[in-house]
Amino acid sequence: MHVVVTGGAGFIGGHLATAFLRDGHDVTVFDNLASFYDPRLKEHTLDIHREVASETDGTYAFRDGDVRDAEAVREVVADA
Ligand SMILES: NC(=O)c1ccc[n+]([C@@H]2O[C@H](COP(=O)([O-])OP(=O)(O)OC[C@H]3O[C@@H](n4cnc5c(N)ncnc54)[C@H](O)[C@@H]3O)[C@@H](O)[C@H]2O)c1
Repeated sequence: MHVVVTGGAGFIGGHLATAFLRDGHDVTVFDNLASFYDPRLKEHTLDIHREVASETDGTYAFRDGDVRDAEAVREVVADA
């Protein structure tokens, strides 16, 4: 299954995306990397995703985008 996780660079979404990857799903994280806190924490989360994805059958993609951008959301969920 192809899963899109909005806010996937954050705390809850990051763990969710890791769990989907571990279960072998294709995962796209859609996040605007908002700077509420240290962006290095988000970069670390995205590194974990890539590492887990490299050990599973699923594919992984990160899309930098804003959920308020309707066209970007339509595009990212098109085959999810
Ligand atoms: N962490 C908790 O214990 C907890 C408990 C109850 C509710 N919540 C709620 O769950 C949600 C996620 O919490 P979290 O702790 O993972 O927060 P977080 O800040 O770690 O993650 C949120 C992610 O959403 C992204 N984001 C913010 N605005 C965006 C936008 N317009 N478009 C795309 N991405 C955007 C941010 O860049 C961030 O990576 C929040 O609404 C929070 O209030 C969290």
